[in-house]
Amino acid sequence: MCEALRRGVRETRVSKEALVFPVFVRDGGGNPVEIVSMPGQFRYAVDDLGRIFDVLLKAGVNKVLFFGVPDEKDSVGSGAWRDDGVVQRALRRTKDSFPEIFCVGDVCMCEYTDHGHCGVLKDGAVDNDASLAWLARIALSQARAGADMIAPSDMMDGRVAAIRRVLDGEGFLGLPIMSYAAKYASAFYGPFRVAAGSAPAFGDRKGYQMDFHNVKEAVKEALADVAEGADIIMVKPALSYLDVVRRCAEALVVPLAAFSVSGEYAMIKAAGAAGFIDEDGVVAETAVSVFRAGADILISYFAVEIARLIDAGRVG
Ligand code: PBG
Ligand code: ZN
Repeated sequence: MCEALRRGVRETRVSKEALVFPVFVRDGGGNPVEIVSMPGQFRYAVDDLGRIFDVLLKAGVNKVLFFGVPDEKDSVGSGAWRDDGVVQRALRRTKDSFPEIFCVGDVCMCEYTDHGHCGVLKDGAVDNDASLAWLARIALSQARAGADMIAPSDMMDGRVAAIRRVLDGEGFLGLPIMSYAAKYASAFYGPFRVAAGSAPAFGDRKGYQMDFHNVKEAVKEALADVAEGADIIMVKPALSYLDVVRRCAEALVVPLAAFSVSGEYAMIKAAGAAGFIDEDGVVAETAVSVFRAGADILISYFAVEIARLIDAGRVG
């Protein structure tokens, strides 16, 4: 088969439209600060977001997922829902200056709480039900600031329904929710917790994130989130969970996203820098594998590199 025909009959297609780039936005001004655990990734001041948006748009990537890195934290994570919170300011600025960028807001508390957990505490443990109202409040404040989509990553039971109810009640009936439904308790989040300063101050997240021995549980969680009103379901991490992506793709009737997380990025970067692997080759292969497994959307710190590999004909 000639090369042109081989490309013509490829079974998996990757388009730039399907890529989402995670952006860390921090309080304060000044230049981007490189994240030690994620070489090549930065925390951006709100005033400086244009710098990364120019790079993204030039490469053909127009979707971002915002994570906030606030200076101040408290027990209820008020920086997550304040009107002048870092993500709210980033959303307003982006919608004003870069209306062509599609903005997804990550809804969680761990970057904003002094204890680093994804919900509020009661008697030293995360209180699922009490956390729901706070999460809905975060989602609503992001909606008011201009978010195009809301992505709850906290993993509290019932949060999609709680968020949907509040958004609908406030007139945001058409605002989509992308639920991190199948989010595993994973060591692959380590570099992110350095980047966002969100490591739990005590204990771990195993009470609310999933056990990586299970796959049917992921399908069950995903179906429950769809029933609660999720428009898109996310599986996270991606690479060690391609079976979960496949099972969810087959079981669901909504689009599926996979999040190639910080640890996946850090491993490829480290091995690439050491000369142990061909970094571009591995980025291409891993990105395609996520789509081959059945994902419709890929959230990746390599979004720009993947877009360039598409341009170069190495992915597509
Ligand atoms: C917080 C959150 C995490 C990630 C996204 N949202 C980390 C965690 O659960 O500790 C991980 C993203 C990544 O590793 O790139 N709810
Ligand atoms: Zn969290």
